[in-house]
Amino acid sequence: MCISAALFYEVNVNKTCWMPIILVLMGLGLTAASSNEPLPLDYWDAPQAAGKAHAGLENNMRPEACAQCHQEQFNAWRDSRHAHAYSPGLVGQFPAMGHGEGNDCLVCHAPLEEQLYRNAGDMNATLSTLLENPEGFSRDADLDAKQTKLPLRHVGVTCAVCHVRHGQRFGPPRRDSHAVGHLDGAAHNGFIATKDFEKSQFCASCHQFPQDYAIHGKPLENTVFEWQQSRFSGQGIQCQTCHMPDRKHAFKGIHDVNMVRSGLKFNLEKKGNLATFTMTSVNIGHAFPTYVTPKVLVKAESLDAQGNVLQHWQWVIIREVAYDDGWEEKQDTRLMPGESRIFVADELDKKTGSVHFYVDVIPDAFYKGVYQSLLSDDLQPKARALIAKALSDADKNDYRLYDNVLKF
Ligand code: HEC
Ligand code: HEC
Ligand code: HEC
Ligand code: HEC
Ligand code: HEC
Repeated sequence: MCISAALFYEVNVNKTCWMPIILVLMGLGLTAASSNEPLPLDYWDAPQAAGKAHAGLENNMRPEACAQCHQEQFNAWRDSRHAHAYSPGLVGQFPAMGHGEGNDCLVCHAPLEEQLYRNAGDMNATLSTLLENPEGFSRDADLDAKQTKLPLRHVGVTCAVCHVRHGQRFGPPRRDSHAVGHLDGAAHNGFIATKDFEKSQFCASCHQFPQDYAIHGKPLENTVFEWQQSRFSGQGIQCQTCHMPDRKHAFKGIHDVNMVRSGLKFNLEKKGNLATFTMTSVNIGHAFPTYVTPKVLVKAESLDAQGNVLQHWQWVIIREVAYDDGWEEKQDTRLMPGESRIFVADELDKKTGSVHFYVDVIPDAFYKGVYQSLLSDDLQPKARALIAKALSDADKNDYRLYDNVLKF
């Protein structure tokens, strides 16, 4: 499911009319290349090998090992979704699929060659290991902790997935310099600095599906394309600008209420006999939400002076898809970057004393449905335990984004 920039353009661009533009872009690419050392072309080709090339600690691809020298990145990463990508909801589906298909999922969830399943036994052993160790790493970076003996796949999208190939570290240029290419350093034979780490395309192999997988013209994951269409790409605002501010590794997204609030503006207003609620996407570099998995509910209620509910309204913000002998898009009501949407509570009851507006976010709405349907079928006992855990974890992720009252 990997996708390179080249493939992406090939499938999206009408070649004849875009040819001159492509040539100009290629020209720009050449100029840029002279001040950059690009990532190797096969950097994201599966399977990616972290490999070994050093001695002792520096050969250890566990995040706890990196943490001995890169504590700050580890402390942020350990609470991110990337650190938890080898999850019960993922792994609980594997026994029914087999280890080969499981590996197709790992290309985004735990993609290193060292993380893939070699055989069915490997996959089966993981079920109990994951149940016993919900977190595949030691939080305090203790290299002697029992978790550090677990197979590398339990650390999901770990440091080495983004930074190490064949023992060689890759990273962005140092903060205080533009120097690119191989730079000497006090450990692991230095690193290769490349500005490709600062660009949205870096995230594409896992956050953008190819156009061939389109449903209703749009692939299930279309984040990089949505970003390219937004004002942010023109202004040089990359995924990293918003998701790794000051190079921090927290990768906050729809599961974090403050992150979501940072991207939206709300306005609640009385207009005569109407209550209007406006939601504007001011700082989100793609559709809100970008994936088909979350669901956002906007609700309103009119109440009388005693607080009794008189009327209610509900709207949904979602890209809803369903699988029935092929994927189908049911509706797409997501907010595009810059878009304002007005929700109106009208024809208010004469006894209305106040109107209440709420916004609820269900980040894992789609998966909850998947887990419920899996649980209603026959499941291998350990797979059942994992899926049940995934469902209860997903339930805990729901939150109220907005809550305000307008007096009448
Ligand atoms: C023994 C200490 C040590 C260990 C262990 C270690 N590193 Fe490093 N790392 C360094 C040093 C020193 C540098 C060079 C910093 C410099 O010269 O700017 C560095 C540089 C880097 C850079 C480049 C930073 C930049 O500015 O772009 C990356 C990325 C990196 N390390 C990743 C890792 C990963 C991933 C691991 C674990 C698999 C790891 N390192 C393990 C010490 C270590
Ligand atoms: C192209 C990359 C990619 C592939 C391949 C992929 N996923 Fe994911 N997966 C993601 C991303 C990104 C998210 C987070 C956003 C979302 O929820 O869609 C995610 C989220 C999930 C989640 C919810 C979060 C969690 O970990 O509990 C589950 C479950 C999941 N994927 C299962 C699978 C399964 C099963 C497969 C294989 C059939 C698979 N994924 C293949 C990228 C991928
Ligand atoms: C999903 C990919 C991804 C993962 C996982 C990841 N990083 Fe990074 N890392 C990046 C990117 C991208 C940058 C550059 C961000 C920028 O320039 O805005 C970066 C930057 C760095 C830097 C340079 C920081 C600086 O302040 O100059 C270091 C060191 C580093 N990462 C180490 C780690 C370690 C250690 C881990 C695991 C605990 C890790 N990374 C996990 C993508 C990742
Ligand atoms: C201008 C800031 C900004 C930029 C640029 C941006 N994002 Fe986001 N992103 C956000 C905010 C805010 C949220 C939380 C609201 C939401 O879920 O849309 C978010 C949410 C997400 C999510 C959560 C899943 C979901 O369904 O919303 C993912 C994954 C994500 N972004 C990936 C990316 C990637 C990959 C890029 C680059 C192609 C990117 N983002 C660019 C601000 C940004
Ligand atoms: C190797 C694949 C891979 C790469 C590369 C990658 N991601 Fe992810 N990312 C994932 C997966 C898988 C998940 C979902 C983890 C889960 O919940 O199971 C995820 C989740 C996220 C989320 C959390 C969304 C939420 O639901 O809250 C954000 C934000 C995000 N990624 C941003 C980025 C950015 C920015 C980059 C590039 C710097 C990047 N990712 C690179 C695989 C990747």
